[in-house]
Amino acid sequence: MKIEILETYEELSKRAAELILNYVNTNPSLNLALPTGGTPLATYSELRKLFSQGKADFSKANIFQIDEYVGLPPEHPQSYVHYLTKEIISPLKIPKENITFYNALTDNPQEETSDYEQTLKSIGYPDLMGLGIGHNSHIAFNEPGTSFTSRTHIVDLAEKTIEANSRFFNNKDEVPKQAFTTGLATIMDSKNILLLASGEGKAEAVAKSFQGEVSEEHPASILQKHPSTTILLDKEAASKLKL
Ligand code: PGA
Repeated sequence: MKIEILETYEELSKRAAELILNYVNTNPSLNLALPTGGTPLATYSELRKLFSQGKADFSKANIFQIDEYVGLPPEHPQSYVHYLTKEIISPLKIPKENITFYNALTDNPQEETSDYEQTLKSIGYPDLMGLGIGHNSHIAFNEPGTSFTSRTHIVDLAEKTIEANSRFFNNKDEVPKQAFTTGLATIMDSKNILLLASGEGKAEAVAKSFQGEVSEEHPASILQKHPSTTILLDKEAASKLKL
């Protein structure tokens, strides 16, 4: 596990865009799982800028989402399909046939999880998986206590996660209570992982996950065992690490 500490969120975002682009340039038809949430927004903005300068070609990349709210229609502004389409897929003109999304409106969410895992397995587990981290150390929507052997599954979102994500909705009651998520074993099957964390609010989760013991109470701690993980932090997110 490699930890890089950048001075500011802007620098972190530029570095993240640079690293993602390096992976795409090295292997244009890579399998790329993309994170959502507040943290990667400036990374996507940087990638859009590079695209408009003719410096980023994602047209052959196979894109996967990492998690999605159960039951939220794809056109809902807070669905992650909507988010990824708006932030990166449309602006970078990534062809529709290269994209694997969850069907959040399925009648059979359980079957959707096994189908998604099967699709990942047959197309190939991600060459690069981008991740954020929750205040409670979740990665994707794998909340504390999730088994390290988990595959794609449905989760009941933790109160802390609903609270954190309510800032994107009109109120807390609108936040869906369940989500599809790539499992921890699925994440560990990715060849390379890039995790971004910004701000003081993430400092404790970062310190516990990356300098504490590997424990299912801190789902992100499993990344300590991954052979190719890069953690990008800004100064605030790194503030509780012992350096
Ligand atoms: P955030 O979410 O980037 O909006 O803080 C990260 C996460 O919950 O994984």
